[in-house]
Amino acid sequence: MIKSNKIRVAVLYGGRSSEHEVSLLSATNVIQNLDRSRFEVVPIGIDKQGAWFLGEDISKLSNESGKLQLQQDSERMLFTPDLIGKQPALRHPSQFISHLKNSERLFDVVFPAIHGPLCEDGTVQGLLELADVPYVGCGVLASAVGMDKDVAKRLVKNAGIAVPPYLTYKRGEWDKHSLEICAAIDKALTYPLFVKPANTGSSIGVHKVKNTKELRPAVENAFLYDTKVLIEQGIDAIELEVSVLESLDYGSAPIVSVVGEIRPQNEHEYYSYAAKYLDDNGAALIIPAPISNAIEDNIRAMASTVFAALECEGMARVDLFLERDTHTVYFNELNTIPGFTQISMYPKLMNASGMNYADLLTHLIELAIDRHSRKSRIYREYAAEA
Ligand SMILES: Nc1ncnc2c1ncn2[C@@H]1O[C@H](COP(=O)(O)OP(=O)(O)O)[C@@H](O)[C@H]1O
Ligand SMILES: [Mg+2]
Repeated sequence: MIKSNKIRVAVLYGGRSSEHEVSLLSATNVIQNLDRSRFEVVPIGIDKQGAWFLGEDISKLSNESGKLQLQQDSERMLFTPDLIGKQPALRHPSQFISHLKNSERLFDVVFPAIHGPLCEDGTVQGLLELADVPYVGCGVLASAVGMDKDVAKRLVKNAGIAVPPYLTYKRGEWDKHSLEICAAIDKALTYPLFVKPANTGSSIGVHKVKNTKELRPAVENAFLYDTKVLIEQGIDAIELEVSVLESLDYGSAPIVSVVGEIRPQNEHEYYSYAAKYLDDNGAALIIPAPISNAIEDNIRAMASTVFAALECEGMARVDLFLERDTHTVYFNELNTIPGFTQISMYPKLMNASGMNYADLLTHLIELAIDRHSRKSRIYREYAAEA
């Protein structure tokens, strides 16, 4: 690698989650748009087993149709989870050792363009904390909390924001008491309901349930994806999304974008996996959302409150429901590494609010470096006062 004064940004792509393919698109866009006058790109692919590979020549990506590929090649392997607990010498291919000569790192900061569990949920962030590397986006706490739809709702509720009425069950309780649980759900909530795993994304394992008969198979299916499942009151609402970005002026309020609407179409009853990925016209992104100024102000303030309540850093997309009849606003969920292609909602909302995609990437990297240097000044040991 040629040495220069540029900041070397490792873009992580792929990952162990079911959103692996979505990540390839997000990362491709990030790599294509990083400001090359300031940054060098080190692409690092993570395969579905969790091994990290140094990516190949990325010049191919300069054409529009280019998309990242995983370079699964043990010679270029940087990390694999099963290295932990084994003698490194037995596992490192010679090539790998040579990369680490002079204990020099291949990169200065990490941009995780990976989505979903084992990517966006604090696990990768924890690894990067241990490695003492600056990384873009939320830290361990907000990443983990933001991924868990139940814990996130509890904190948001605590901050005075409404959430749809819901019940939560763990796998063990369901296995033992499913009859009683179905009866309790029937009593507490009104159909339609939404059944969802606590920790997924991309609407994987999410079901709209219209009657008692559909309830059990939906819950069983959701338990395939997690050990905790939420059963929520369906809200007849328009779906709104807001991008929140931490300010570079540490301690200042975050930047909150204009509000966007996601409108499922083509007979998709909600923003399902099919509407998101299988149908090119499955949903319209409407920016700005057609809502009154008063509602918009309220929603932007709520997004800022959610960002703070969940201890977010860097960025997050806050998703809300505006109930059609009552105009009540409910928090739905928060995404700490939202879809990041140029046509994804997070960058589009920021763009509509005056920050273009390349500037957004630079801003996020600067935040990552600032946070790392701030945290590195924290005392790790007791220091007697003078
Ligand atoms: N309580 C609800 N009321 C109405 N629609 C819902 C509700 N929960 C989820 N949905 C629909 O399901 C979609 C996916 O659910 P969501 O909780 O956002 O999961 P994911 O993290 O997979 O995006 C939402 O975008 C919305 O269309
Ligand atoms: Mg969602």
